[in-house]
Amino acid sequence: MKSYQKLATDIPQPTESYAEEESIDGKPPCLRKLSTWWLGVGLLMMVAVLLSGVTMWMFRHMSGSQHEQTPLEKCSAVPEPLRFDCYPERNMVVTKELCESRGCCFIERDQPLRSRSGVPWCFYPPDFPSYTLESLNQTELGMVGLLRRKVKAYYPRDIERLQLSVEFETDTRLHIKITDSTSPRFEVPLEVPQAVKRAENPIYSLEFSKEPFGLLLRRRASGAVLLNTTVAPLIFADQFLQISTILPSKFLYGLGEHRSSFLHSLDWNTLTLWARDVPPMESYNLYGAHPFYLLMEEGGSAHGVFLLNSNAMEVALQPAPALTWRAIGGVLDFYIFLGPDPNMVIQQYQQVIGFPAMPPFWGLGFHLCRWGYGTSNETWQIVKAMRNYQIPQDAQWNDIDYMEGYRDFTFDPEKFDTLPQLVEDLHKHGQYYVMILDPGISSTNPPGSYWPYDEGLRRGIFINTTQGQTLIGQVWPGLTAFPDFSNPDTYQWWLENLNQFHTRIPFDGLWIDMNEPSDFKDGSVDGCSPGELDNPPYVPAVLGGSLSAKTVCASAKQSTSVHYNLHNLYGLMEAKATASALIQIRGKRPLVISRSTFPSQGRYSGHWLGDNMSKWKDMYWSVPGVLSFNLFGIPLVGADICGFSGTTSEELCTRWMQLGAFYPFARNHNTQKEKAQDPVAFSSVARTAMKEVLLTRYALLPFLYTLFHRAHLQGHTVARALFFEFPQDVITYSIDKQFLWGQSLLVTPVLEPGMDSVIGYFPRGVWYDYYTGSSVNSSGESLKMAAPLDHINLHLREGAILPTQKPGSTSWVSSGNPLRLIAALSQNASAWGDLFWDDGESLDTFERGDYSYLVFNVTQNVFTSTVLHANVEATYITVDVLSVYGVREKPSRVTVNGKENPFSYLDNQVLTVSDLNLNLSQGFSIRWL
Ligand code: NOJ
Repeated sequence: MKSYQKLATDIPQPTESYAEEESIDGKPPCLRKLSTWWLGVGLLMMVAVLLSGVTMWMFRHMSGSQHEQTPLEKCSAVPEPLRFDCYPERNMVVTKELCESRGCCFIERDQPLRSRSGVPWCFYPPDFPSYTLESLNQTELGMVGLLRRKVKAYYPRDIERLQLSVEFETDTRLHIKITDSTSPRFEVPLEVPQAVKRAENPIYSLEFSKEPFGLLLRRRASGAVLLNTTVAPLIFADQFLQISTILPSKFLYGLGEHRSSFLHSLDWNTLTLWARDVPPMESYNLYGAHPFYLLMEEGGSAHGVFLLNSNAMEVALQPAPALTWRAIGGVLDFYIFLGPDPNMVIQQYQQVIGFPAMPPFWGLGFHLCRWGYGTSNETWQIVKAMRNYQIPQDAQWNDIDYMEGYRDFTFDPEKFDTLPQLVEDLHKHGQYYVMILDPGISSTNPPGSYWPYDEGLRRGIFINTTQGQTLIGQVWPGLTAFPDFSNPDTYQWWLENLNQFHTRIPFDGLWIDMNEPSDFKDGSVDGCSPGELDNPPYVPAVLGGSLSAKTVCASAKQSTSVHYNLHNLYGLMEAKATASALIQIRGKRPLVISRSTFPSQGRYSGHWLGDNMSKWKDMYWSVPGVLSFNLFGIPLVGADICGFSGTTSEELCTRWMQLGAFYPFARNHNTQKEKAQDPVAFSSVARTAMKEVLLTRYALLPFLYTLFHRAHLQGHTVARALFFEFPQDVITYSIDKQFLWGQSLLVTPVLEPGMDSVIGYFPRGVWYDYYTGSSVNSSGESLKMAAPLDHINLHLREGAILPTQKPGSTSWVSSGNPLRLIAALSQNASAWGDLFWDDGESLDTFERGDYSYLVFNVTQNVFTSTVLHANVEATYITVDVLSVYGVREKPSRVTVNGKENPFSYLDNQVLTVSDLNLNLSQGFSIRWL
């Protein structure tokens, strides 16, 4: 124990007045104090050994001026924001005895009981024992070290010897892994890139604390400490892994799936990651698990941290600011991305998890769905009514109503007897059909009557109980078995089922729901076995208090591991199997929309935000939701437009259609037994407003498609938070009621009832009204804008060129129409934009070179279109109109490829050149003089 005593002086030791101190420089007092402390330590006590960008340091005692503190003094001296929870267990009162039995400090506060959302009463003392770094050796890519723990932890099967491996994978990416040094543990089966050579000029430096073991990561340029894990003990038991760090700021995003503002609160906020079927509510674990955060540092740099771990976990945030990862299995496998700008962080993250798939062009059109279309004819009627009013619609969806007895791969022969004809009719009109599929396979049919179950049983592809029997739960069809998508044989079975069904109903896309997986019987119809998988020593703060709440038993057996490890991967694995089946069946780009998601999901599917309500607040929540999934590498995301459960109103639904028209994935979906909420269900005023905004979306499809190409190619976000583009502007850090498409189209929706105006923030620069071209030169201000019920405010950022297209009522019709290019001049009269164009559905068009790519430029009063890559697709399209916003003086002449051309010029500085009829495949230039 003696060696650990040293630590008492090694952890920042606050003075008595520490917590009360006023902030004088905008930083919380604790932070300022901490950095001063680190500086002091750095100057006085650090013994640094430089190991090519790596520093190993050890703390020494401060010179003998300190008196020996009593345990109480030691405990009270820990400032409240820095108290790391030593007893995170819920549903129990932590007494002094229990707390001290763990060797922790117990200080009651005047909160009722031991609050889960406040300063912990039971917290680690500064000298709580942890691991010692016993050795550290260079490797080709970094280093490996050995950690040893001398004192037993309070969770069973704590691991005495750990292996630390550090790989300097790139100049901006660091990979740190801590695992059992003697026996292998479960690791997420994700294909991640393997570095082949050590980074040459890392923009970070890593330092190690030997005793107790800790890591300190700095950004070289600013010296900012991005991680410091010495602030609380590392714990590594078989079913309890915990590591804490100080954060360099409170601007933290990500960590999904949750319903919260985009910027997380660090006010003792615990976020749990365990896939769960539940209507989104604040502070619950929801459908997906994304152990990734993005953090904005002081000065506008950003970094990201990804914990590649699929076990149930929680992330505790506290105001220090600090963060604790607490997982109940797997290994601590961290990837750290140094940006330095937030866009780059997200790209670097996706270089590890994979870039999202390129969606089919039609996937970006408008989708209509509901639960409760009673028949195929009723579904068909809506499609016809939408056509009748020429309201854009690309895809009609069906929920579980189409099935016979809610069984997958069947359709109701009576109520949905005309489904084949409906699908045929959709195809004839250039429209598409998407249907729902749930993973639960009905298990109660007379033998021989339901191939999916019989054959699944025969092939042994279902999840089993610990005793090796098929695990039976209950979902819509009644009793069900659950396919094990971790088993390669399941892919083949799933494909065969889909293939067979496709011959009857030639669906185009698939909606995979209930894939947490949801089970109405907690665990199974027979419950779960008593054991440490279903009842682990520590249960994170999951809704329902148990891992098996509304899902299958954690102890259930899958082909590659136990469900305990694979649960959070279920949606990902199903999406992978589904996308692969769709590709094999249709030979085209698949559209898969999944409820449950995990990192790398974007490679196979998009996501919708689940069962929201028809409430104004829910409409707001969708914006942070959409922004978060863009961080997670799943840009194809949207919420149920107009709300799923509850009754929408005409006003809410109109506003929501306006916002939803700017979700990357735009689908109106409604629950059963609620009033219809498709555009044709409303008055002509509302219907027209909805139609207009969909036409605006369709006009913007070439721009949106190009953004998806950039997402697919480089990992750019599609729906983007303002701070991504303005990282120096701290005001943008908390904005989640507005967002951008790409770099340049600012969307400011109305999110409250009874409004005819909206206030939006405009970062410094010139912004143009998308519709009129009128401009505002903002110094970084909030502005009030008119927002009548038929209008959504859209603004173009100076310097952007957007390719738009005359909209049609399907993306197929639109995609053949002439383009209108809109250039929004910067203050030095330049602009830039691009266009990716292909046939919209073939596989791997970019990878095979079967696409067109054009770059547009404005400099010195000349607009140029340059074809950088051409295929036949561009030859079908003409450019009809060029609008230039921000032309300060009326030109006297306009020439197109050197020939004079008529034009118009408006007082709001908009130049329009029409009737161009230029073929997109040929470069051209337009000059104004
Ligand atoms: C739950 C889904 O989240 C919802 O969108 C769907 O309508 C119902 N399941 C019925 O399938």
